[in-house]
Amino acid sequence: MSRLIVISNRVAVPKARGAAGAQGGLAGALNSALKKNGGIWFGWSGGECEEYTGDINIRRSADGVTTATMDLAKQDVDEYYNGYANSTLWPLFHYRIDLTEYDREFGKGYERTNERFAESVQPLIEPDDMVWVHDYHLIPLGERLRARGIRNKIGFFLHIPWPPTRLFVSLPFHERLVRTMLHYDIVGFQNNEWLESFLHYCRKELGAEVDEDTGRVTLEGRSCIARAYPIGIDYDHFMEKGDTGEARNAQQRMVSSTRRRTAMIGVDRLDYSKGLPERIDGIGRFFDRFPERVRDLVYIQIAPPSREDIGSYQHIRATLEQKTGQINGARSEVDLVPIRYVNKGHSQEELFGFYRAAKIGLVTPLRDGMNLVAKEYVAAQDPEDPGVLILSRFAGAAEQMQDALLINPHSRDDIAHAINKALDMPLEERKARYESLIKTVRDDNVIDWTENFIGDLEAVVC
Ligand code: G6P
Repeated sequence: MSRLIVISNRVAVPKARGAAGAQGGLAGALNSALKKNGGIWFGWSGGECEEYTGDINIRRSADGVTTATMDLAKQDVDEYYNGYANSTLWPLFHYRIDLTEYDREFGKGYERTNERFAESVQPLIEPDDMVWVHDYHLIPLGERLRARGIRNKIGFFLHIPWPPTRLFVSLPFHERLVRTMLHYDIVGFQNNEWLESFLHYCRKELGAEVDEDTGRVTLEGRSCIARAYPIGIDYDHFMEKGDTGEARNAQQRMVSSTRRRTAMIGVDRLDYSKGLPERIDGIGRFFDRFPERVRDLVYIQIAPPSREDIGSYQHIRATLEQKTGQINGARSEVDLVPIRYVNKGHSQEELFGFYRAAKIGLVTPLRDGMNLVAKEYVAAQDPEDPGVLILSRFAGAAEQMQDALLINPHSRDDIAHAINKALDMPLEERKARYESLIKTVRDDNVIDWTENFIGDLEAVVC
C-alpha cells in the first residue's frame, strides 16, 4: 500500500470549533486514512513571520499521524490567504461576483505561495507515495510539483462549488488556472452540478476533449479524470459524540431554556455564502405572516466569526447584528426573545445535543460546496420523534437530500412558509422524511468518501 501525503491550507485543527462540523469530520477521516496508509499531512501552521524561512515543523501525534507545517510570511497571508484565496476565488466560486476582488498582487502572492508549498513539501515525498491536495487555496500545486519532477499519483479535491463558465471567465488568467488542473491524475468535486460546470468550461473555453462516461479531460496530450465524490460526515464517530454526558447536558440545557416553544437551530461559520441575513429576513417574514406563532418558536443561530481580516466578513457580521437586533427589538416580550444569536463555536458533543433538542434545522446557504451541518442535524435526530430539516436547494447536499424541505434561500416567503410547514408537520411525515435522509447520511459517510477517492487514485495507470 502506498503512503499518503495530504496537503491542505490548514492542517487538521479547525480554527473555530463548531464553525464547520465539516472540518471536524474531514480531519478525522483524513487522520484515519493517514493512520491506515502511513504518511504525512502537510500545510500552513496558521502562523505568520516577517520573512518566509522554509522551516518545517514535523510532529507525530499521540495517535500516530505525522503532520508537517510551515509558517507563512505576513505578505503571503495577506495576498494568498486573505487575498486571492478568500477575496477572489471564494466569492467567485460562490457566485458572488459582486464581492470578488481582482488584484494582480493577490494573483502573484497566490502563485508565490503555491510555489512555497511545492518547495517545502517536495523533500517529504517518496517515489511510491500518493499525494492528495485539498481545496481552492492550492489549485496550481499539482502543476508546481510536476515542474519539480514529481511523477507520483496526485489527486485534487475541491471542497467548494465550481462556478458556471459565464462567471468563471471573469477571472483574469482563468485559462492558466484550469490548465494547471490537468496535471492532476484525478480532480474531485462535491456533486454533479459542480462537475458539469467544470467539464463545460474545459470543453467550451479550453477546447478540451471530454469523455462523458469516464470524465476524462484531454488537452494537448495531457489528461486528468474529473469525478463527483460527495463528502459525508464521520457518522459512527459523530454518533459516539452524541452518547456522552456533554451531549445530553447540552440537549437538556436547550430543552429547559426553550420550554413550551419549538427550538429551531442554525449553525454556520459567519460567512456571506451561508445566507444568514436572508435567513433572518425569512424569519422576520414568518413573524409578520404568522404573528400568532411568535410564542411558538425560538431561533438559535450559532455563528462563530471567520476570516475577520477581510472587509466583506466584517460587513456581514455588522449586517447580521443589526437585523437580529431589529427583529428582537420589535418582537421580544419581557419573557420572550425570538432570536438567540451566539458568536462562538461549540464542541461536536454540544452541537449534537443542540441539534437533537431542535425540532427544526435551518440550513439556507446561497451556495455551498456540500454543507455537513445538514447531515449532522439529521444524524442527531431521535428516530422516534425526528425534527425537520429545511435546506437550501443551492447547497451541494440538496442533490442527495431531496426529502428535506427544499427552499430557495433568496425568498423570504419560501423560508417563512417552510418554517410554518415544519411546525405543523405530522409525526408520520417527519419520520418518512427522516428515514430517507438518514440513509444517505449514514451510508455515504466520510470514511467511504476517503476510501473511494484514494481507491480511484491508486487505480490510476500512469
Ligand atoms: C471551508 C473551506 C475550507 C476551510 C474552511 C474554514 O470549509 O472549504 O478549506 O478550511 O472553510 O475556513 P478557514 O479560512 O478558517 O480555513
